[in-house]
Amino acid sequence: MASILEVENIRKNFGRTEVLKDIRFTMEEGEALSIIGSSGSGKTTLLRCLNFLETPDEGIIRVRGEELFNAAQKGSGSEAVIRRKRLHFGLVFQSFNLFPQYTALENVMLAPSLLAKEDSSIQKETLADRARELLDQMGLSDRADNYPHQLSGGQQQRVAIARALALHPDILCFDEPTSALDPELTGEVLKVIRALAEHKTTMIIVTHEMAFARDVSDRAIFMDDGVIVEQGPSRELFDNPKMERTRKFISSFGG
Ligand SMILES: Nc1ncnc2c1ncn2[C@@H]1O[C@H](COP(=O)(O)OP(=O)(O)OP(=O)(O)O)[C@@H](O)[C@H]1O
Ligand SMILES: [Mg+2]
Repeated sequence: MASILEVENIRKNFGRTEVLKDIRFTMEEGEALSIIGSSGSGKTTLLRCLNFLETPDEGIIRVRGEELFNAAQKGSGSEAVIRRKRLHFGLVFQSFNLFPQYTALENVMLAPSLLAKEDSSIQKETLADRARELLDQMGLSDRADNYPHQLSGGQQQRVAIARALALHPDILCFDEPTSALDPELTGEVLKVIRALAEHKTTMIIVTHEMAFARDVSDRAIFMDDGVIVEQGPSRELFDNPKMERTRKFISSFGG
């Protein structure tokens, strides 16, 4: 069976700066992969490439064996086609980005409702149920009717996670999901991500929370200066890094 994600030889330049070079990795279904690396190493750019927010200059992206992107084939498709492709990935940003004019429930329901307009096989009535279920799963059942400004940062981020899950992505991507949060709110967000991992949600987690990454992810990638320096099972990468650069980076976190 094909891996759920295959990334081959992704390269991305911004002007003359090479931000990603020869990025290759695969993921299996149910796996949690953490990506660590210093500021500017290309982690966000990589997630943005996977989510079709940036177009790689080279490389191939496959999900469940289906080629979603191939730089050798010019033209990545119409807006509608790209929107479809994006549905394979869910993205949770550092800065929650909820719609301030909508309640928590409406934020979770918005994208599925728009999709239901295009796809008559989606039952509109079930969308609200599903959204409530997701908020419940995030520990927010009593917050469904609150607006973002009525929620703490940790609660807003949990709404954002529910919103990403509402579209049933194949792969859920987190870009430093706790780095905008006060330390006392970080724990509640890490707890729901940990629960998702325990339920075998396929996830990519970009994080500076080293102990969390080591504990929760099955595999880890260390990036530096646009390249994957080292990748492997998390425990091995964190406890016994093969490369000096990886060891230095991890020990700079006191690990
Ligand atoms: N739109 C852009 N135009 C030009 N350069 C960019 C753009 N986006 C990112 N870069 C550059 O690409 C490099 C990688 O940035 P990226 O945001 O991917 O790093 P990162 O690993 O996510 O860093 P951080 O840990 O600080 O979030 C940086 O040198 C950055 O300045
Ligand atoms: Mg980043």
